[in-house]
Formats: sequence, C-alpha cells, structure tokens
Amino acid sequence: MSNSDSLVEEVIERNPQEKHLSDYRPSDYTISTIDLEFDLFDHQTKVQAISQVQRVSKEVTPLFLFGEALNLVSILVDDVDYTDFELVKDGIVINHLPTSFKLEINTEIDPAKNHAFEGLYKSGDAFCTQCEAEGFRRITYYLDRPDVLAKFSTKVIADKTLYPYLLSNGNQVDQGDLDAGRHFVSWVDPFPKPAYLFALVAGDFDLVEDNFITKSGRDVKLAIFVDKGNLDKTQHAMLSLKKSMQWDEERFNLEYDLDIYMIVAVDFFNMGAMENKGLNVFNSKFVLANQQSATDQDYLGVEAVIGHEYFHNWTGNRITCRDWFQLSLKEGLTVFRDQEFSSDLGSRSVNRIANVMTMRDHQFAEDAGPMSHPIRPESVMEMNNFYTLTVYEKGSEVIRMLHTLLGEEKFQKGMQLYVQRHDGQAVTCDDFVAAMQDASEIDLTLFKRWYSQSGTPQVFVTDHYDSVNQTYQITFKQKTLPTADQKKKLPLHIPIDIELLDSNGNSLELLEGKKNRVLSLTQKEQTFVFKHILSKPVPCLFRGFSAPVKYQYAYTDEQLLDIMSFASDEFSRWDAGQTLFNKYLVKNVKALQSGGALSLPEIFIDGFKSVLVSETLDPSLVADMFAFTSENGARELFEQVDIDAIHNARDFMLKEIATKLHELFVDTYLRHNQLKAYQPNIDDIAKRKLKNSALSFIARVDKKVADEYVLAQIASCNNMTDYLGALNAANSGLLPCRAAVMQAFDDKWFENGLVMDKWFVLQASMPSDNVLDNIDALFNHRSFDFNNPNRLRSLVGAFAQTNTYRFHHVDGSGYAFLTDQLIKLNSQNPQVASRLITPLIQFKNLDQVRIKLIKAELNRLLALPDLAVDLYEKVTKALAQ
Ligand code: TRP
Ligand code: ZN
Repeated sequence: MSNSDSLVEEVIERNPQEKHLSDYRPSDYTISTIDLEFDLFDHQTKVQAISQVQRVSKEVTPLFLFGEALNLVSILVDDVDYTDFELVKDGIVINHLPTSFKLEINTEIDPAKNHAFEGLYKSGDAFCTQCEAEGFRRITYYLDRPDVLAKFSTKVIADKTLYPYLLSNGNQVDQGDLDAGRHFVSWVDPFPKPAYLFALVAGDFDLVEDNFITKSGRDVKLAIFVDKGNLDKTQHAMLSLKKSMQWDEERFNLEYDLDIYMIVAVDFFNMGAMENKGLNVFNSKFVLANQQSATDQDYLGVEAVIGHEYFHNWTGNRITCRDWFQLSLKEGLTVFRDQEFSSDLGSRSVNRIANVMTMRDHQFAEDAGPMSHPIRPESVMEMNNFYTLTVYEKGSEVIRMLHTLLGEEKFQKGMQLYVQRHDGQAVTCDDFVAAMQDASEIDLTLFKRWYSQSGTPQVFVTDHYDSVNQTYQITFKQKTLPTADQKKKLPLHIPIDIELLDSNGNSLELLEGKKNRVLSLTQKEQTFVFKHILSKPVPCLFRGFSAPVKYQYAYTDEQLLDIMSFASDEFSRWDAGQTLFNKYLVKNVKALQSGGALSLPEIFIDGFKSVLVSETLDPSLVADMFAFTSENGARELFEQVDIDAIHNARDFMLKEIATKLHELFVDTYLRHNQLKAYQPNIDDIAKRKLKNSALSFIARVDKKVADEYVLAQIASCNNMTDYLGALNAANSGLLPCRAAVMQAFDDKWFENGLVMDKWFVLQASMPSDNVLDNIDALFNHRSFDFNNPNRLRSLVGAFAQTNTYRFHHVDGSGYAFLTDQLIKLNSQNPQVASRLITPLIQFKNLDQVRIKLIKAELNRLLALPDLAVDLYEKVTKALAQ
C-alpha cells in the first residue's frame, strides 16, 4: 500500500459515515426468539445469546450482526461450533448460513469499566443496562435495529448476597439457588420487542410495592426499587405512576398489558429515564422526592417523567419505530401525551408557558444552528446526537398542531385507529399521520411538510380595518430562512388560533358562541376577512402558541397591555408581557450600542404593576409574567448578537422593575409567605413560586431587607422549595449572607448528591466575575464526582447554558473551560460530552472576536486523535458554518 493510500484510509477512518433515511432497507434476516443468559461479574460478565434466525430476503446473503466492545468466545449454528465468520469494524459477518437456524453466541464484557453508561454497566453497586438507541450491540452481537422484533427470555445469574434482586423484562418464571453463593432468576417477556427495549438490573435495593386494577379488572403489581435508605422518597413516584395508568385509560383508552410494572432508580444515567418493557430504568433525580430534599419543580418533574415512560408502553413499545429516523414517532407523541397529562392534573396555562419557554430559549437556537434538522432527520452520523429538543419538543408541537386542527374527538379517533392498525409493528411517522387523516377525513398532505422541513418559520402579520364596510382583514406572510442542513424552504400548514378584542377588551364572537377561531395558513401569503366588526380590534395571535413559529405584528404598547389584561387565553396574556419586555429589550440594546440612554416607560411599569396587584390571577401565572426572556432566549431577537449589551440592558430593566415595584414585591412576598404545612398541590406550589420570585426581585434592590428575609426563610422553612428559593435570592443578588448560607447548605446536604446538584447549579450560575475560579475549585468538592452525569450537568452544564454572560466572556475563558472538560470526557462518556457542547456550537450570530475564540476551541477538539463520533459530528458541522 502506498503512502497516499494509507492517508486516504486514515481520513475515511476519521470521517464517520452519515446514514440516510432514504437508504432504509428491511432486514435480510429476522429473529423470532432470543434466550439470553447473563453470568454477572464486574469485569468478566458472560453473555450467552441463543436466537432463532430466519432469512427473509430472496438472495442468499451473509448475516451481519452489530457488535461493539465485545469479546467473542464462541459461535454455534444448530448446536455445532461455527467458524465461517469475520469480525469487522462494527460487528460480525457470518457466512454460508441455512435459511432457518439456531444461533448461539457467547461473549464476554466488562461492565465495571463501562463509563459510557451504554450497554451493561455498573451504577454504584448495581448492574444495569441502557440499550437505546444502539447499546444492545455492546451486550452481544445482534440485529440491533428497531424493526427486528423478537420474544426475549432472560436468565440472570449473580452472587446472591450482593445482588438479591435480579430483574429483566416481562414476567418472572423461575428462580433458584446455585453453587458458590450464587442464584438465578428467569424472566419471559411475551411481547415481541426490538433490542433497544431490553433491560437487566441486578442489585440490592429497598423496594416499595403497590398495585393497580386496570379498567378491565386486571391486577397489576407495581414495584419501585431504590438505593437502600431511600424508602422515604418513593411515595410521590408511586402516586404518579398510578395517576399515569389511570389517566391513560381515561383520556386515551389505553390499558397496561403485563402483570408487573417495575421502576429502578439509579444514580449514574445519561438521560432522564428509559421505557424498557415492564422494567423502566430511571435517573434517581426523577424518582426520589420528599419535602426536605425535593423542590416543587422536582415533584412536577417526577410526575412528568414517570408519566412519559409509562405512556411509552403504547406509544413506543407496543408500536415502535421502523428506523431511528422515525424517533419522533414515539418521542414527539409521548412528550405530547406527558404534557397533556401534566396539564390535565395541574395548570394547563402554566404548563404551556413552561413548554414554550423551552422552545424559545433552546429549540429555536437548535433549529437555527449547525445541528438543524427536521423532526424526522434525513441524515445522522451518531444516533445519540438526535435525542434533541427538535425531535422531542418540536415533535410534540407538531402533534399538538394536529390536535388543534382535528380537535380532541377526531384526534382520539385517529389514535385508536393508529393502535388498531399498528399494534405489534415497527412503523413510520407517515403511518401515524395516515391514521390521523383516515380517522378524521381531514387532508394532511401539506401538513406532513413539518416532518421534513427544518428551521423555525417566521410569520409576519399586518392588518387593516375598514370602518365603512366594517370589515377587518388580516394578512399573514410566512417565511422560513435557510438552515445549515437545508437551503430551500416551502410554505407549511400553520394553524393560527386567533381572538379579536374590541375596544372594551371584550372578545368578538368569531364562530357560533366561540371567542376564538383556528385559521389555516397554508400559502406563502394569505388574507382573512372578518365581517361585521364594529371597531378596529386588537388581534390576539397564536393563542396557546398554536404553532412553533416566531411571529411579528407591530403591536403598540397599549395593545399589548390590553391583551395582558383581557385575553381569554392566559398563555396569550403571558405572551403579550413577553413581547412588551422584548420590545424594550431591543430598544435598550440599541441605546447601549449607540450611546443613548436606557429607559423603561411608565406605561410598562404600570402594566406589570396591575399584574402584581391582581387578586384574580393565578399566583403561578403572575410569577411567570415576571419570568422575562432569558439572556439565551434574547439572542433570538437579534440578527447580530451583542452579549454584553443584552446582559446590561436586561439587567437594567430588571433592576428598574424591581425598584419601581419594590413595595409591591415586599407586599407580595409577605402575603404569600404564610403557608404552614407543606403540600405539593397546585395552589401551594403557585404561592411558593410567586413568593420566591418576589424575593429575588427584592434582592436586586434592598440587600439589607433581602438578607433578613433570606435568613428568616431558611430558619423557618420546612421544605426544599423555600430553602432553595432563599438560597437562590442570596446567590443571584450576591447578598451579604450568601457565603454563610451556601456553606450551611453544604454542611447539611453534602452526602446527598441529588440535593447537592441544586447547590452546584447555584455555584455555576453565580453572577460574579470569578465564577470560573469557584467552579475549578469545586471539582475537588467532597460531593462532586466527574463520572456522574448529574453532577457534571449541574456544574459544567449549568455554567455554559445559563451563565450566558460569563460563559461568553470576551477573554475566551468560558470557552476554554468547557473545552477542557469535553476533552476529559471525550473518551469515557462521549454521549454526555456531546450534550454539554451545545452552547459552544451555536455561535453563528455572535461577534467576530468570540467566533474566532470558539473556532480555536473547536479545532482543539478536532485535533484529538480519538475524538468520539458524537463530538466529531457536532464539531465538524459547527466549523462548516
Ligand atoms: N427513550 C428515552 C425517553 O425518551 C430516552 C433515553 C433514555 C435515551 N436513555 C437514553 C436515549 C440513552 C438515548 C440514549 O424517555
Ligand atoms: Zn421518551
């Protein structure tokens, strides 16, 4: 081989291939059953896999099985040793096989050395698995693709004292003792499933049990396994599980199908949780909660994630994805379902606002950045990189638009048809939309473009009132800018939920007895005319965020204040407040850039004053009205982003609001600081939220009073929400008591990593110029563990994602810091590294100085000899911008 040949080889090696949706082909082989046996040891776990394999392709082809980081021990075909195979880069090719045969593969793996937490690994003292998306191939050679569905049976063998609980999918069918202090348990899962839904857990746990009677009268055993000593933190998770099961029966007519549902909480987990059939594995953050250790937001998070994984049993497990490009088929739909669950159980508007904040603060940036992709991506290098806000959150928005267009009744008809047609299958997003279309008889041809077009559409709105004919006409123009992945954009089907307010703030009747109406914008430009309109109305647009778009209408301040006070949709009231804030944020940024004076008019303050004194608004909504666009979200308002000006303008505005409304914030704080017993119900959660929001506004203005309130609140509170609320005010306001209260918290909680995560987040988001020195020192903190993804996200992730101003310091120290961490993480946990890199690759509209600094860091990563494909995909795409 010549020198240039080897160079070419090296380049190919370094340039991992993209896979394309259009290249999908069904598998040449199917597997009907797989019987697994695990003999568990820290470093030498033996895995035996016996599969029944059939060739389904006409041509005789070799069998390719995926496999990574495996030690092959032996292969047997129909019980005879087999050697006609080749080990290749990412698997094995087995030649000259019969059409139908029994395949036995014996491998050895090293779970204790697995810090990537993919495949079989150790979380603390327990063994556990994570197979989605492509982790099963780290357990044995297999057709590790979601459209190969097999019946799994699993026998787990391990030391009985260390691992009294041996769990897997389905129902337990056998157990017994073995020699040398070992024992076994056997499980059978009656439902055929793809390998990504396989799970195994072995360990010693505390166990809480309960049961649920399904609507058809079946008695399902519920079991939650947690680390020893945590039983007092399981009650809320169990309650949430029962509520999820009940809700899915009532709202979606979907019932659970096995005799047992198990949840295991582990401390080392790359994501939130995993919906493995009958055996969910959870990040302990989304299971453990009691009033001392968890905030109200944690309680809501547990409920949402327990719901999400449970709802996957139908939308994901019984009906799964044909290929990973279809991920949003299960994720977008299941996020929609968990959002509806939270909304039905709690406050619909508050949930809606939280979801829209995520879209605007983070998903819009993803859609405009180097990783831009449609909710159904067309090409992927590393699948783990596509568990994104786009696939999940925008995917859910797309389902929500379907719901808006069809209405609840037809939507549910569509769901029933989808289940009836595809139960037990691996299908596509097209199959889902087809079921919705067939059940509703609404044409969704154009709507389907949402699945293939990336980017955030912009909608420009103008209107005209004709007082002679008493008509009101409103014109919408849509435009989607080219994105990194896709130059040409087409018009989308955009549902616009609209309400018109008259001069007294009353809503006009737009349809029989209804205050609102959903318009379908399907063309590039479209005009709608409303008749018999007696005076020029104020249009309330995209009620409930009826489409994931950015929209512009030249609202006057007065119009926005009208919407804030009179819109029938609480989301719209909140949205008008955001728009008003953003309008002055843009103005003040421009003022800073041109040396003009900063200002915030009286009318603005008065508008928000009436929100704060309102006796009728939900306190939680009031708190959200004062949760103004973050520095991150504000970047979306500018074509050219000025980090420092955004920070300073926003800071000025918050200070101005805090100053002008100071007495009212004090009053609000005192008024809502009356709760005695802790209850995590919606009303009390709302009061605590508003109270703690008020406290941080007070801390911006009067450090002395705030210091007193913080200390008193910490001394008297009986729950983590108020403790953290006080700490947050001390931290963000840099109050005199800050150091002391942070230290006291540390002393009290240092043994509880999950609680300390909240503290690390505060440290990382401290608004101080020496925050990085602080963070550096905290790597040696007694509660920190670089191998634990939760700790990393709390310290490193929170800094890069929420401390925008410091992360983007023009000396480049934030960029260098993050890059240093990514280099350390690259080889041991590339999946987590790849999630942490996000703020470093979304730089397109920054200034040239910062862009140059960032590119230098990205090149530093690219120069790593062993750069993981996860990071390689993002770094190369970012540098190509
Ligand atoms: N399917 C999981 C969910 O949506 C996501 C998930 C959990 C995951 N762990 C993972 C995805 C690891 C990729 C890798 O709840
Ligand atoms: Zn999911």
